[in-house]
Amino acid sequence: MTEHLTIVNHPLVQHKLTLMRDKETPSAVFRRVLREISYLLAYEVTRDLPMTTKQIETPLKAIDAPILAGKKLALVSILRAGNGLLDGVLDLIPSARVGFVGLYRDEETLTPVQYYFKVPDALDQRQVVVVDPMLATGNSSVAAIDLLKKAGAKNIRFLCLLAAPEGVARMKQAHPDVPIVTASVDECLNDHGYIVPGLGDAGDRIYGTK
Ligand code: URA
Repeated sequence: MTEHLTIVNHPLVQHKLTLMRDKETPSAVFRRVLREISYLLAYEVTRDLPMTTKQIETPLKAIDAPILAGKKLALVSILRAGNGLLDGVLDLIPSARVGFVGLYRDEETLTPVQYYFKVPDALDQRQVVVVDPMLATGNSSVAAIDLLKKAGAKNIRFLCLLAAPEGVARMKQAHPDVPIVTASVDECLNDHGYIVPGLGDAGDRIYGTK
């Protein structure tokens, strides 16, 4: 993946995103549409994965048929909203290994603090896809990727549903080697760090909390 930022403009993605932005959309529908949109975004983020071939026999002929090369992908969810995106990506890539990064914001320093970190082995040999629906300030994404790089990850991609220009810029400055795939780059962040127009708090909308 050569582009730092890929915006998935596919009509189905944009239509589903509109359903998710609508504040009248209930959690059950929000979750289902997030799952559907995850398939389409996963398709884009895996578009140029390295391939090899395997000898198989169809009922008619032996052929060298294409398969994914290398070790199984590692999907890493940034808790908790990341899990909403993870579920769909995992439907599409069921053999992927899965990791979780938990970060909370220290209200005094406003910096992310790690409270959970569990990732697959041999991260250095895997394509790692970090999932989090909202790339807002970029603070937690940058911190999560810092931790993954410390754990050995070398090939990382970042998959989100919505991004703010501020978050994209922050990621580009901190991790220029990490391509971002998103359905939209919105207008800006508000004073509370929410993406505008956005869709509100992704975790709350997925899990029906407030
Ligand atoms: N996290 C969210 O859930 N929503 C935003 O708009 C920004 C960060």
